Amino acid sequence: MSENVITAKNLTLAYDTTDKIINNASFTIQKGDFVFITGPSGSGKSTLLKAFYGNLKPQEGELNIGGLDMMNIIKHKLQELRTHLGIVFQDYKLINEWTVEKNVVLPLWIAGYTADVQSSQAKRLLHHVKLTGKEEKYPLELSGGEQQRVGVARAMAKNPFLILADEPTGNLDEYSSNVIWDLMENACQQLDTTIVVVTHRIPMMFNIPYRHFSIDAGGNVREVH
Ligand SMILES: Nc1ncnc2c1ncn2[C@@H]1O[C@H](COP(=O)(O)OP(=O)(O)OP(=O)(O)O)[C@@H](O)[C@H]1O
Ligand SMILES: [Mg+2]
Repeated sequence: MSENVITAKNLTLAYDTTDKIINNASFTIQKGDFVFITGPSGSGKSTLLKAFYGNLKPQEGELNIGGLDMMNIIKHKLQELRTHLGIVFQDYKLINEWTVEKNVVLPLWIAGYTADVQSSQAKRLLHHVKLTGKEEKYPLELSGGEQQRVGVARAMAKNPFLILADEPTGNLDEYSSNVIWDLMENACQQLDTTIVVVTHRIPMMFNIPYRHFSIDAGGNVREVH
């Protein structure tokens, strides 16, 4: 039995009443799906992700994320949902005053995990993103690719059921991009994590099955088969 993680029905997204950004979209994303979203600049890719993490309320239609109705979600339910999501931004959004290790375990620290759990999880994740030895560095002492790998490690710290990533490899070299794609492939395959990634280019070397949603300039979402 497949389990729907994201369900959109006739979903319309807009920032004001006149200009529809996402237009009447209907789709379902199931547990363990890996979904790439592509489309021209300004087509609404980031807007769609924003609605997925509850930063933009749907204008019309239905949107259900992890069993929650995003049209009518109350504030504390939304906060709770966000603690179970892993979000990766193109501009990393790390805390520059904190060490790499502290950035990675931020979600665990907020959730009140013990120092032991935090440090063993940091060790494991930093190993996966090939940053062992950089625990005590600060973000600004790292390259862009290294900073984004910290961002991805942080997004995975609490084993989220859903990872949402907006052009996570947009500015990165091939090495850092590959580390990130590998990690996401593994999370999807081994942990059954659902992953939705906005990208301008689907990686050539991608080793697991994926779905591809394309958004056109009119904000129409369709699945490419
Ligand atoms: N906060 C906002 N308020 C009003 N309009 C916005 C806002 N954010 C985005 N838009 C508009 O919504 C449309 C879609 O923007 P969005 O950022 O979703 O595009 P995108 O597909 O992610 O583009 P890119 O590939 O350049 O990142 C654009 O026309 C943009 O100007
Ligand atoms: Mg965008």
